[in-house]
Amino acid sequence: MTVVDLSLAVPPESSYRLDQMLELLNDDERSRSARFRHDQDRRTFITAHALTRLGLSRHHPDISPTEWTFEEGPWGRPEPTNPGIGDLQANLSHTRDMAAVVVADGIEIGVDVEYVTPEDWIYETIDTVFSTDECTSLLRLDEEARRERFFLYWTLKESYIKARGMGVSLPLTQISFAASNSHGVVLELEPEVGDDPTGWQFALFHASANVRGAVAARTPELDLQSSWPTLR
Ligand SMILES: CC(C)(COP(=O)(O)OP(=O)(O)OC[C@H]1O[C@@H](n2cnc3c(N)ncnc32)[C@H](O)[C@@H]1OP(=O)(O)O)[C@@H](O)C(=O)NCCC(=O)NCCS
Repeated sequence: MTVVDLSLAVPPESSYRLDQMLELLNDDERSRSARFRHDQDRRTFITAHALTRLGLSRHHPDISPTEWTFEEGPWGRPEPTNPGIGDLQANLSHTRDMAAVVVADGIEIGVDVEYVTPEDWIYETIDTVFSTDECTSLLRLDEEARRERFFLYWTLKESYIKARGMGVSLPLTQISFAASNSHGVVLELEPEVGDDPTGWQFALFHASANVRGAVAARTPELDLQSSWPTLR
């Protein structure tokens, strides 16, 4: 059974607590945080990056949160690069009012959190993102169930493509969670995706009343351990 740590945090309003978290970040993260136009995005970014460093240090207490170094993979996924950490993996996600981070040793992992917006623009891109079966399933549902299903498919798909580290370079419509619902996840992949769907486990969570999330892990059995760590 592979343990995956999921840490969740609501970005604090307090500038004192934000400044404490900012101190954990490196120069690049600090300058990225300063470029956000909306304060809410800046707070979420800082929280997610601090949470990542704290989560990694829980796995390696000999490395302090400020000491973590990262390098981006070919599609932009940041990987921790400190010597002696083996194949430690981390992935973060931020959305309105929530930051989420997964950390695990030796397996591919990805996380996605999404705020369930009441707006309808979310449906504009469904045929470029969802498989034919996913679209059919969405169109059969009434409005409330459709929105919930939309975010179920979206977070699952994002968690998978983030675990693969390849983002939207994967053929999104060839990755399908159409047979999934809140009780069970089924991943189906067309040959173009070049992966074995049976190797994956998924976990779904409600991070708050309005935030849905999913974790993807390439492992036969997933033991997801969730926490709301104290920030700093
Ligand atoms: C960048 C991407 C990996 C995730 O973007 P997102 O869902 O907007 O954002 P999230 O908050 O969940 O994740 C962003 C974090 O993932 C990490 N990340 C960046 N590139 C990544 C990659 N190729 N693989 C995995 N993680 C990646 C980074 O840590 C990034 O945080 P940062 O920008 O603060 O450093 C990518 O999937 C994307 O561009 N998505 C756009 C949305 C979309 O069209 N999705 C369709 C599929 S359902």
